[in-house]
Amino acid sequence: MAFSLSSSSSTLFFTLTLFSLLLLSHHQQQQFPPLNSAEQESVYLALESINPEIQWRTLYPDDLCLSAPHGVICDYLPNPNSNDTVFTPHIVELNFGYVLDSSDNPPCSSNSSFPLSLSSFSHLRKLFFYRCFTGSPVLIPSLKTVSSELEELVFMENPALFGSLSGIFGNFTSLRRFILTGSNVSGGVPDEITKLPSLEQLTISGNRNLGMGMIPNDLGCLEKLRVLDLSRNGLTGTIPNSLGNLKFLLKLDLSCNNFVGKIPEDLKNLQNLEFLDLGFNKFGNFGIPLFLGNMPRLREVYLSGNPLGGAIPEIWKNLRGILGIGLSGVGLVGNIPSSMGVFLTNVSYIGLDNNKLEGTIPKELGLLEHVNEMNLQNNQLSGGIPFSAPFVARIGGKLKLEGNSGICLDKSMKWSVDQVKGSLRNLRICSPTTENPNAALFVDGNGNGGVSLSRNWYLVFVLGVFWSIYLVGG
Ligand SMILES: *[C@@H]1O[C@H](CO)[C@@H](O)[C@H](O)[C@H]1NC(C)=O
Ligand SMILES: *[C@@H]1O[C@H](CO)[C@@H](O)[C@H](O)[C@H]1NC(C)=O
Ligand SMILES: *[C@@H]1O[C@H](CO)[C@@H](O)[C@H](O)[C@H]1NC(C)=O
Ligand SMILES: *[C@@H]1O[C@H](CO)[C@@H](O)[C@H](O)[C@H]1NC(C)=O
Ligand SMILES: *[C@@H]1O[C@H](CO)[C@@H](O)[C@H](O)[C@H]1NC(C)=O
Repeated sequence: MAFSLSSSSSTLFFTLTLFSLLLLSHHQQQQFPPLNSAEQESVYLALESINPEIQWRTLYPDDLCLSAPHGVICDYLPNPNSNDTVFTPHIVELNFGYVLDSSDNPPCSSNSSFPLSLSSFSHLRKLFFYRCFTGSPVLIPSLKTVSSELEELVFMENPALFGSLSGIFGNFTSLRRFILTGSNVSGGVPDEITKLPSLEQLTISGNRNLGMGMIPNDLGCLEKLRVLDLSRNGLTGTIPNSLGNLKFLLKLDLSCNNFVGKIPEDLKNLQNLEFLDLGFNKFGNFGIPLFLGNMPRLREVYLSGNPLGGAIPEIWKNLRGILGIGLSGVGLVGNIPSSMGVFLTNVSYIGLDNNKLEGTIPKELGLLEHVNEMNLQNNQLSGGIPFSAPFVARIGGKLKLEGNSGICLDKSMKWSVDQVKGSLRNLRICSPTTENPNAALFVDGNGNGGVSLSRNWYLVFVLGVFWSIYLVGG
């Protein structure tokens, strides 16, 4: 259509276009002034420090609010001191370090240094570094001059970032997220963290050099916290009771540290908690905390790798929403209560391996319809296993039973030959007389524990039906 325009209409078109361009630029001048030169220059300096090998000024010569690398975010903010319609551009986010094609922030080079021009950004809300400091050591500097409007401070996988967190925080009254993972930062979690009143997520995880530090007693002052993850830092000491004050907490992960003592009773006040991981610490000798039974929002509970001891308590009635429960290697004794199978109807993962559990496996565990993995390895369990052929077929190799010399295959369970030779191959056939009285009725001809389950299937079925009627009736 455009190429069939007559010369007069094309002149009109041109005039209109020019007119609207003029309007637009007038509008822009009126409402969208350019980024101030101090912030413009500070963006270049920051880009040059994280990657001196790229010609940032040549690649992005224009107003950085109109054309900037992905990850440098500008916003037009109203002027609080006037009520006219002028909006002033400011840099509000700096995201450094290539993450994905969909989020291709400026890539950091191996000889990057920490940007020291951050104080110019008076309205900075987010500062993010992903795999930016990976080469020669980079000291985490004081951030005291960074804007008090900062809401997110994120350092992910920066193994060369070192120094202490002590004394680095500015007046961060708006900070909602602080994330520090995979760094070389040392000296524990400083008390100053507890002076960040807006914090909703505190994730300090996988910082191998942070250890020997304790966690601040006043961490419970951070009343808005929803996520507290201090996993994999080698932290020591006890867990402060004050954590029980964090009533909005959804996730608490303190796994893989060296925490000692008792798991504080006060954690029972975390009535919104959905995820609790205290695994692989040194919490000792007080058994599995009974208060867990009064935290009905729990979805995942991992206490594995602590010397807790004791028997599995009857706490499952209010925990019907549990999806994952890890109690591996915690020194459990006694039986597996059938209540676990009765109440944990949605459970997908159960780990009870590497304990001293004894007795038979309750048949209720074999009725759990959503289980994807059940690990009962290395206990002292005994008797015929209660898992049906369809159950075994569904879970396959994730049904882990090895290392329980007393358990056996009760031939009345009708597993296929493939199953008995496959995922159940390490289990012996129950001795007909002592280990399973009904199996004695159907023992097959060769008597040597061979696996020919099909021969007597009809008899097994009929007598099985009678047996169930008898059980139900009696
Ligand atoms: C802002 O608006 C109020 C009324 O809405 C007016 O009284 C005041 O003079 C204005 N101030 C400025 C600086 O324009
Ligand atoms: C960074 O390293 C590159 C080579 O990898 C080198 O050309 C450049 O000069 C270095 N820059 C600085 C500031 O050390
Ligand atoms: C900290 O920031 C808040 C608002 O962001 C401000 O009201 C307060 O005066 C600041 N405090 C200090 C000590 O600068
Ligand atoms: C981590 O920091 C320590 C000093 O605190 C230093 O000796 C070590 O080399 C650093 N490791 C890395 C990978 O930078
Ligand atoms: C079990 O899972 C189903 C489906 O995901 C869900 O609708 C139900 O609320 C869950 N039950 C409990 C007690 O959480």
